Amino acid sequence: MTVASAVGPWHRAHLYKILACIVLALITLQYLLSGVLDRHSIETIFTINGTRYAGHTYKNHPRGLIIYGPVTAASPSAGSGNASAGGTTAPAILVQQRAENPPKTEETTVRGDRNHSETLVVGNANATDPATMPRCPLFPPNLVGPVAISKQPPEIAEVEKLFSARLQMGGRGFPKDCEARYRVAIVVPYRARAQHLLILLYNLHPVLLRQQIDYTIFIVEQEGTVQFNRAMLMNVGYVEALKEGSFDCFIFHDVDLLPEDDRNLYTCPEQPRHMSVAIDKFKYRLPYADIFGGVSAMSREQFRLVNGFSNVYWGWGGEDDDMANRIKAHGLHISRYPANIARYQMLSHKKEKANPKRYEFLKSGKKRFATDGLTNLQYELADKKKLQLYTWLLVKLTPPQPS
Ligand code: BGC
Repeated sequence: MTVASAVGPWHRAHLYKILACIVLALITLQYLLSGVLDRHSIETIFTINGTRYAGHTYKNHPRGLIIYGPVTAASPSAGSGNASAGGTTAPAILVQQRAENPPKTEETTVRGDRNHSETLVVGNANATDPATMPRCPLFPPNLVGPVAISKQPPEIAEVEKLFSARLQMGGRGFPKDCEARYRVAIVVPYRARAQHLLILLYNLHPVLLRQQIDYTIFIVEQEGTVQFNRAMLMNVGYVEALKEGSFDCFIFHDVDLLPEDDRNLYTCPEQPRHMSVAIDKFKYRLPYADIFGGVSAMSREQFRLVNGFSNVYWGWGGEDDDMANRIKAHGLHISRYPANIARYQMLSHKKEKANPKRYEFLKSGKKRFATDGLTNLQYELADKKKLQLYTWLLVKLTPPQPS
């Protein structure tokens, strides 16, 4: 016996009315809620191939999520990664679901792996008229998430050929069909690691092209055989890059680190960002909370504010820790993407000799912040060439004079 047949016709009519009211109320509630959500998450809503993605409509795929903004915490799905040690956790402001069928604007199959065959679709050296182009979407639609890394690239001439249609001389890539939101200089301090450099370029360019940024790779090579000064080379990269273009974001990138996921955007959010959160060599764990080495991003203003890197660190280690101290001393903080996205593989090489003076310098660093950095940087630009895959700067560093 149903509920309706258990009551009289009068009661039955009322029951139907009540049920109809409940259904109507539910429909209205859903409509209102969707309006509220749309208004509050306007930046999170985007459409790919007719599918609407938003903070409340994305499919629940842990590897498909990307969080933009000043995020310090590790993702709950980060597996062995642990990025939570780096300071206060700001709310994730944007969430994106990876496009399952990203739209293709142009496609060329160049290699048989995921990074190099599927989606080298963005960017062309002969771009259409920038004046009529729309701004690129907030979420690059061609991202694939985890990428296959190849440590056996073809010869350099072949790699150059591979990217020749998409890069301008000097290693500049930019989207073809939309105006990039970010002008990014990738600065790589370098000496005597030709094979590592080739592997990096072969793996990094496809990732950057998919990210729809306007970027240029600067390889800053230290001339001579005196101890390597990574920090000073990065300062030189900053100064020289700004002579080439109005970059608003700088990514300082070790030559031996290969990104594992193209959702790790090479852009500068509000706070300086440590990008190499999870590295295979460190078992995909953050070694310590304030680490700022490997790959890191700072805006032009932030870098100028902290007076760049210190110039006193000759030999391995300490310069990134000094930068972390500068960042904090200037009221900024290190932000991080989740460890399941900010992942890198490190190429193997022999261990460098650590600078025994680094702790001493770190301790006394604060009193040098204003005088040691961009303000007392001295170098000689021995050579400069715009090659197909990068802009090459050969630099003779002058040790800072004691003040
Ligand atoms: C060094 C840093 C380095 C870190 C991770 C520290 O001891 O001072 O420069 O990035 O180790 O290798």
